[in-house]
Parts: sequence; C-alpha cells; structure tokens
Amino acid sequence: MRGLFVTGTDTGAGKSVLSACLLAAMAAAGEPVRAHKPVVTGLAEAPEGPWPADHELLGASCGMAPEEVAPLRFGAPASPHLAAALEGARIEPAELIANARAAGAGPVTLIVEGVGGLLVPLADDYSVADLAGELGLALVIAARPGLGTLNHTLLTLEAARTRGLAVAGVVLGRWPEQPGPLERSNLQTLRRLGEAEILTLPLLPGPEPAAMAAAGAALPWKRWLERQGETGHL
Ligand SMILES: Nc1ncnc2c1ncn2[C@@H]1O[C@H](COP(=O)(O)OP(=O)(O)OP(=O)(O)O)[C@@H](O)[C@H]1O
Ligand SMILES: [Mg+2]
Repeated sequence: MRGLFVTGTDTGAGKSVLSACLLAAMAAAGEPVRAHKPVVTGLAEAPEGPWPADHELLGASCGMAPEEVAPLRFGAPASPHLAAALEGARIEPAELIANARAAGAGPVTLIVEGVGGLLVPLADDYSVADLAGELGLALVIAARPGLGTLNHTLLTLEAARTRGLAVAGVVLGRWPEQPGPLERSNLQTLRRLGEAEILTLPLLPGPEPAAMAAAGAALPWKRWLERQGETGHL
C-alpha cells in the first residue's frame, strides 16, 4: 500500500489539519489521493471554531464523502474502544485492517489519520501503532510547537522506534509567523535529540483549500512516498 500514516503526540495535536494539508497538496499535484480515518469519535459534539469534524475535513480535501473516509463513527468524545462500548458496539482489529486495506486498494495514495496518539487502543488489545505497523505505512507525527512538546514528541518517537515503525518526519503545527524563543528552541532541541526530520506547518486561519494546499506543498511528501519501505529517516 502506498501512503502515509499521520499520527500525533496527543489528541488535538494537529493530525487532521496536517492530513488535510497533505491531501490538498497531493490532490493539487495530481496524486490520486484518498483519505482514511479508521474510527471517528465525538460526533455528538459540534466542533468549536472553523474546523469541521475530521472525516468532513479530510473528505473535503480529496473529494470523498465523509462516511467513505470514516466507516466507523461514534458520538462520544472518547477513545474508540470506549466510544464503541457506550453504543453497545465492539471494534474488531480484523475490521479495522480490512477497512484500511480497502481504502488503499488499487493505484491510490492513502493518507490515514490515526486516532489520538500512537498507543491509543482502537480495539481492546489493538492500538493505533498496531494498525500502522500492519499497514506498513511510515509515520508522520503531528506535534505541538509550544510548551510540553519535547517530552510528548520524544516519547512518541521512542514508542515508534521500539515498535519498528518507520518515521517519515515530525511536523510542528500551528507554527506562528513570528516564532518566539520557546518555539525556536523547541524546533532546535527536537532536531538535536529527535533523530528524525522535524518540520513546521503554519498556523492557518481556517480550512481554506488554497492555503492548505500551499502549506502541504512545503512538506517533502514526494520524497517520503518515494522512499516508502525504507527504515530510519525517510
Ligand atoms: N496548522 C494549524 N493552523 C491552525 N489551527 C490549527 C492547526 N493545527 C491545529 N489547529 C487547531 O487545533 C485544533 C486541533 O487540531 P486537529 O483537529 O488537527 O488535531 P487532531 O490531532 O486531529 O485531533 P483529534 O485527536 O481530535 O483527531 C484544530 O481544530 C485547530 O483549531
Ligand atoms: Mg483529528
């Protein structure tokens, strides 16, 4: 399967915005791109601010219906296994794998947005990291630019490496036009300690397609895709 698996250091770290920017840039470049969100939760709550729900944002960025992007949808703003249990449902790993493989079948490039962070359970004994490993896609890690990101990002990189997952890069989102000393230092420190490519994605005012495509085009997604299957830095 050709594609990338976008994970994050945490929930709200910027996976959806990053995924949408990658999708928009790829679509603009003529890449036959599709999006997949294995499970979306929290649909009972209306989104705050200009950004729509994950599957709507991803779908709009590559011309897919939201339901096609996320086949498993739950109302509770909770981890997938709990959100499913609250509706009397149970998520099976085999179903997650089959859905993702179907989404990435054929001559397409698949952008998968994970759920929460790497170790979040999708099913009882099956984590986001397990699914990423099963699909054989390199990780792009969405991280915050400010306070707290050093520990979260380094922990995520360590967890990925421990599990043998390839890391394409880390992207610090919401990157201000004029980064302050904290953001600049975080970028330098992660470049020094992370042993991974550390990039930034600008702070965007909202889901404006041209701005998202421009932000995504600044990321080295072509190289990441060309070097798929290699381990270490892509
Ligand atoms: N590059 C960005 N520019 C502007 N706002 C951003 C950016 N990245 C993230 N945000 C803000 O942070 C919020 C959370 O980002 P996002 O939804 O991408 O996180 P997530 O990791 O996908 O969260 P979830 O775990 O819910 O899937 C967005 O709704 C938006 O308000
Ligand atoms: Mg999201």
